[in-house]
Amino acid sequence: MWYLENDNREKIINLARKNKTPFYLYHIPTLQKEIDKYKNVFGSYNVDLLYAVKANFNKAILKIIRNNGFGADVVSGWELKRVIDCGFKKISFSGVGKTDDEIILAIKNKIYFINIESFEEFERIKYFSEKLKIKTSISVRINPDVDINSHNYITTAKKYSKFGVDFKTAFEIYTTTQKSPYLDIKAIHFHLGSQIFSSKPYEIALKKIITFLDDLKKKGIHINIIDIGGGWGVKEGNQSKGHKKLFNVLKPYLKNYKFILEPGRSIVASSGVLVTKVLYRKKVYDKYIVIVDAGMNNLIRPSLYGVYHPIINLSSKSNKSVLLDIAGPVCESSDFFARNIRFPLPERDDILIIASCGAYGYSMSSNYNLRPFTAEYLIY
Ligand code: LLP
Repeated sequence: MWYLENDNREKIINLARKNKTPFYLYHIPTLQKEIDKYKNVFGSYNVDLLYAVKANFNKAILKIIRNNGFGADVVSGWELKRVIDCGFKKISFSGVGKTDDEIILAIKNKIYFINIESFEEFERIKYFSEKLKIKTSISVRINPDVDINSHNYITTAKKYSKFGVDFKTAFEIYTTTQKSPYLDIKAIHFHLGSQIFSSKPYEIALKKIITFLDDLKKKGIHINIIDIGGGWGVKEGNQSKGHKKLFNVLKPYLKNYKFILEPGRSIVASSGVLVTKVLYRKKVYDKYIVIVDAGMNNLIRPSLYGVYHPIINLSSKSNKSVLLDIAGPVCESSDFFARNIRFPLPERDDILIIASCGAYGYSMSSNYNLRPFTAEYLIY
């Protein structure tokens, strides 16, 4: 990975010695490589790529993604404002709790489409579009009830998930939309969840969607844009894979349909690391606890989902491993980055990196314990 290649190791240590730690660091050549994988596989087909901004909303990164021809998928009015500021043209807006202000913002900006997630939300969109006399493009987010074998918290399309609507409600929304002069049917949407490593869930969902679209055709509603949500999963510590597999899922349908993908993680995950410094070590019975200056407020994924982001000590030369935990300064026992790993005991002030933090790292951070948001640096 990039952080171990060439002189990047030295660059990171120097940055960490000269600046306050912790901080996020993004490697732009790696970001570009990840972007190019999408362009190479999907670029010459009828597929629109809308980057899922929630994964990383750093403005410099957004501009690079936009300059590569991507649109944006947003889930709040604040994300919407940011991508408009960054010059994105094609924007989709998902989310189960859009406020009136957010709906009005989307309508006034005439975005590519709003993904509708409930009948009541649909009524608000219809009401404001008619009141403002602006034609709004919509898509309905379907919950196709498909399991993806991922963490429960990032599984979004099972029967009782809060996201999207069932086929019956979607049918009602589309047929009502058909009658409104201020609404335009643009697409149909589903997003099954994140960290998907198999084609199967996509295949099952797509079959259900196509059957539904055939039913709509009988009512004179012809939809030929299918938005299939986020990208393939990424194992922490690795670059993204699976683009070709995803393409093969779409291949049989490409003659009749245009597709939209909303990748987030796979675009940005591998380019980012969280750089942190060792504060203290202490021995607790038979193991060590190493306290670093980054906390769960900076990176919540290990605490929230129980995932391990590979940790590398850039300063240390020692190979002798001991049993240890790596934890942060936040006043919660859930504030840890690693538990019971065998790892060379770091020295105080050693510089560690926590890998694969480009996605859902900074963007999920908080200022719990009044700890500040970190700086973000870029290596070009
Ligand atoms: N589209 C929609 C409507 C989404 O809700 C998401 C992610 C994506 C696209 C992008 O999915 P991706 O390509 O990144 O898998 N915080 C969690 C991930 C939550 C994902 C939520 N939705 C994590 O850190 O693993």
